[in-house]
Order: sequence, then structure tokens, then C-alpha cells
Amino acid sequence: MDSIVVGLQWGDEGKGKIVQKLSRSHDWIVRFSGGANAGHTVYHGKIKMIHHLLPSGTDKNFLFISRGTLVDLETLNSEIKEISKIYPDIKERLFISPYCRIVTPIEKWQDNALEKMKGKKSVGTTGRGIGPTVSNDANRIGIRIFDMFDEKHLTEKIEMLSEISGFKDKDISSKLLNEFEMIKDRITEPEINGSVLFEGTQGIMLDPMYGTYPYVTSTPSVPSFAFYGSGLQSQKYEIWGVFKAYTTRVGAGPFPTELLGDSGEEIRQRGGEFGSTTGRPRRCGWIDLPQLKYSCRISNIDHLVMTKADVLNGLDKIGLCVSYDREFALYDIEKIKPEIEYVNGWKNLESSEFADFVSTIEKYVGKHVDYISYGPSEEEISERPFSH
Ligand code: IMP
Ligand code: MG
Repeated sequence: MDSIVVGLQWGDEGKGKIVQKLSRSHDWIVRFSGGANAGHTVYHGKIKMIHHLLPSGTDKNFLFISRGTLVDLETLNSEIKEISKIYPDIKERLFISPYCRIVTPIEKWQDNALEKMKGKKSVGTTGRGIGPTVSNDANRIGIRIFDMFDEKHLTEKIEMLSEISGFKDKDISSKLLNEFEMIKDRITEPEINGSVLFEGTQGIMLDPMYGTYPYVTSTPSVPSFAFYGSGLQSQKYEIWGVFKAYTTRVGAGPFPTELLGDSGEEIRQRGGEFGSTTGRPRRCGWIDLPQLKYSCRISNIDHLVMTKADVLNGLDKIGLCVSYDREFALYDIEKIKPEIEYVNGWKNLESSEFADFVSTIEKYVGKHVDYISYGPSEEEISERPFSH
């Protein structure tokens, strides 16, 4: 059985950790979207690693960065170097599609320039060049990995891209080629045998088509993109939707259940809610059930996984948005007012109050919560009903 893991909120739901757990029963871990804007925090034993581009597998998995992923060569090389300390054979298990789009310094420069030009309307991107890499590609002036095999051809492409985008420093080919040399032998579309886990990035609400446009990322986060983005197919698969017991968002854009005062700050501190890619404080708020239900419908999930349930331990009251003052619709999301219901908090996850909280969510979205994660390590995941 293959699996697709996606985030049901605005990213940072803890997908990396869930992928790591599920990786034990899969042969291949495949990235099919996003780029170095992603930051999946994974503990390999006691060592914490933030995966921006490398799939979050363990010691036995084959890893494939498929064509839907935007590759930043510098980030990729430094990640390979880091993780080689834990898994010395990592490179032998890694495969990168020649069709991946490359993020060059031009796109990062464009990303920051665009954000500045937008002023108050800026998206709050991660500055990793994601939007411009997608738009340059759509304009057919982008660089793909296969362009890197021929220096003359690459230089011509970079010249055209620099000229069209107004980028002044034309001498970036040699740096890109040096980085490319280090992974050149890993470029191939591998033959995939065995079961595949498709590792999603960002979250449904950040999907460019199904999220809160224009405050979204530029590559799809929905599970249906797993096949288009990777070029693989599956006859039998399950979709895992990961969500936090509360909601966070990093960057600008609508966030109906956001807590602006002390309660937001308390969740931020308790949950260590600071961006793993940019270090920015994440905006925090209560869980939003209409939003969660929407994401479940869009992604047609089979299993729900709740993460960071322990962060709320010991709070007096816990809020849940149970409805809005009007029907949930994306085009209305900046105007809608959430109606928050408060329930009694819980001491620990064995408490009946916590069990009730989970049941309320299940009833609302019409799906069972199969796993509950309550800490950063792979072991801190429990099947429902909660026991450990
Ligand atoms: P971009 O993907 O860097 O263009 O950023 C677009 C929006 O998506 C910004 O609000 C980012 O903060 C957000 N974003 C992108 N990647 C992630 C992620 O992995 N986790 C959370 N937010 C993200
Ligand atoms: Mg993250």
C-alpha cells in the first residue's frame, strides 16, 4: 500500500515526523512539490534535523526528489552533508529527477524584490525564490536540472533569464555548476519497486488553487498532485491528513481563529511556534473546524493524525471554531467571523476532557483520528484511543 501525507492547515502540522513514522512500512519516500521553503523537523535518534529538500525517511528508505520539487542546489548539498553524519550511505539511496526546476540566485532576488514592491500587500514569503521559479518556468525561461549538463547551454539560458528579469550579476553559472558537480551522479529517474510514501509539503490552505490565494505558496499541496508532480502512479494508496490541535500560520493572509493577545503568545511559547525555515514567530489560534472540514474534503483523506496535542495540556479553557457567521467560502475568508466554543481544558492526554475534544473534531469533520502525536520524537505517537 502506498501513502500520501499532506498538511490540512497552513503548513507546519508535523508532517515530517509522521512521514518518519510511516517510512518504516514503505520502501521509497518521494518529494513531489515545494522547495527549500519547506522545513520538516525530524529527530534521528537524539539529533534534530530540519529537512528542506531531503525526504524525511530513515535508514532503509530510498529517497526520490521528483520533478514537482524545486531544487536549491546549495541547500540540498548542505543537507546531504549534514545528514551523511547520521546516515553515511544517504547519497547512494538518493535520486533526483533531471526534470526538476532549479532555483537560482535570480529567483531569490526576484522573490525579495516582488515582496518589497507589494509593500503592505506582501505575502510574507520565505524568500526561497519559490514563486519566481514557478513563474519563470511557466514563461519558459526557467532552468531545469538537465540544463546543467551542458555549460554553454546553461550560460545562454542564464543570460536570457538575467536579461528578462533585470538581474545584474551575470556570473552565476560557475557557482551553480560547482554545486551541481556534487550531486551530478544522483540525477536520474529511478525505477521504483516497492511501496511509496509521497511526502507532501506546506498545507491545503497554502495551495495556490485551493488555498487562501493570493496568500499561498506557488506549488500545489493537495494530494492529487502527488502523481502529477512525481510522474508515478499508484493502484492502492491511503491519504493521511495531518493537523495540529490548534492552528498556526506563518506569513501574511487571512486567519479567522487567530489569537492576537496573550493567549496567542502562550501557545507560541508552549509549542515553540517559530518558523523552521525563517525563524519567524508563527501566528497562533484555536483549531478551526469548518476550515479543517474543507481541507479534508479537498484532499479526500482516509486517516487523520493530530499533532502537538500535549502543547495545550494544563490550559483552563480550549477554544474550537465550530461555525462562522456565514457559510465557509474561500473568497469570503477575510470577512467571515468565527464562532468559538470553549471546552474545559485537560491535565494530560489520558483525561476524559481530551477524549471529548478529539470526539468533537471527529464528529464535525466526519473522519476518525487514527494517531495522536504528543512530542517531537518518533516514539511519541499513539494510536487512538490514547494510551502510552
Ligand atoms: P513561499 O512558499 O516562500 O513563496 O511563501 C508563500 C507563503 O507560504 C508564505 O506565507 C510562507 O510563510 C508560506 N509557507 C511556505 N512554505 C511553508 C512551510 O513549509 N510552512 C509554513 N508556511 C509556509
Ligand atoms: Mg515546517
